[in-house]
Amino acid sequence: RPILTPAFATTLILAGGAQADDAALRSMAKEYFEPIPLQAPMLENNVISRDRVDLGAKLFFDPRMSRSGLFSCQSCHNVGIGGVDGLETSVGHGWQAGPRNAPTMLNAVFNIAQFWDGRAPDLAAQAKGPVQAGVEMNNTPDNVVATLKSMPGYVEGFDAAFPGESDPISFDNFALAIEAFEATLITPNSRFDQFLMGQDGAISDQEKNGLQLFVDTGCAACHAGINVGGQDYYPFGVVEKPGAAVLPEGDKGRFAVSETADDEYVFRAAPLRNIALTAPYFHSGKVWDLKEAVAIMANSQLGAELEDAQIDDIVAFLGTLTGEQPEVVHPTLPARTINTPKPAP
Ligand code: HEM
Ligand code: HEM
Repeated sequence: RPILTPAFATTLILAGGAQADDAALRSMAKEYFEPIPLQAPMLENNVISRDRVDLGAKLFFDPRMSRSGLFSCQSCHNVGIGGVDGLETSVGHGWQAGPRNAPTMLNAVFNIAQFWDGRAPDLAAQAKGPVQAGVEMNNTPDNVVATLKSMPGYVEGFDAAFPGESDPISFDNFALAIEAFEATLITPNSRFDQFLMGQDGAISDQEKNGLQLFVDTGCAACHAGINVGGQDYYPFGVVEKPGAAVLPEGDKGRFAVSETADDEYVFRAAPLRNIALTAPYFHSGKVWDLKEAVAIMANSQLGAELEDAQIDDIVAFLGTLTGEQPEVVHPTLPARTINTPKPAP
């Protein structure tokens, strides 16, 4: 029978302790966070059928949905780089820079509402915005519908996606198809989710520290739920406003939506899934370093001065939120015809 040396006994006790710690950390984390489901969620006013998703993918990738024929949703929400464009603020029609950074559409279906200020209630309402925005795709609903009706490939696609409808090609159905496609763009099985689901070794000790700090410091009060954020609205600068370089004075956030003074500089707590992939940060896109973004948050939202090593741990934890990226095959798009409206400057 083996004799337990003191050193070996200590190792056993430590290992047992680590397991107990992991269990405690997990049950604490589960009070705040939920894993991303493996399947696309059900939508309230939409059906995620194969035909609708396929059509939505085509629309998402089709630059002919823009006035200039240059911009598609993919231009600013590149599925290959985390669903963003990697620019401070997006560049759209006529090489104009828009006012805000492009947030990712990956997992956006789990957010309470869309845009930095939550002004669109869901993805279908959202999809109508960029097409018409002068600094994005600069198109009109009528021109989109005319473009779609001119191509037999789209006529068939809308017939299949909206069976039994007398006039399936409409701007509303355009938006529904895009919403169905976007609902499939989810990133399950991140290392953090594996940890939540019971795998102690899925995240490192440093990342566990970071998770504990994320909760203890108070980040999880605003960044919680499936998307580790995206669930509610808060002033950017609860304790102290960051400088105008990071928080430009002209963009008052939800104030523009609700016109109540309380909503000045109020924004949706940003969803933090895949955050390591989606620099630069904040609605202004002014911060490229995630460490700096975390330090700004700690100061501005919580009045906390974190030590450098603590910030490193939180950043390490945030890295575990990168999930499996959707493998999207670029669809072949319907051929244009002589009746398809030509691109315009
Ligand atoms: C916001 C999808 C086209 C730039 C969003 C959001 C979604 C989305 C889902 C909200 C994400 C969130 O709130 O977390 C789409 C779709 C498009 C499209 C389906 C095509 C129909 C574009 C284009 C550009 C762009 C072409 C760039 C020129 C932006 C920006 C925001 C945004 C800057 C944030 C705007 C704000 O908060 O006010 N988009 N997008 N998008 N998108 Fe797009
Ligand atoms: C944005 C992390 C605490 C509300 C962000 C972003 C990060 C972050 C990385 C940028 C996301 C992006 O650009 O996509 C943290 C950390 C925190 C913390 C590590 C704790 C130290 C809080 C608290 C609140 C909050 C306590 C609410 C009182 C927000 C809001 C935004 C945001 C409203 C959007 C800001 C904008 O409009 O650009 N957070 N956060 N955060 N967070 Fe936090």
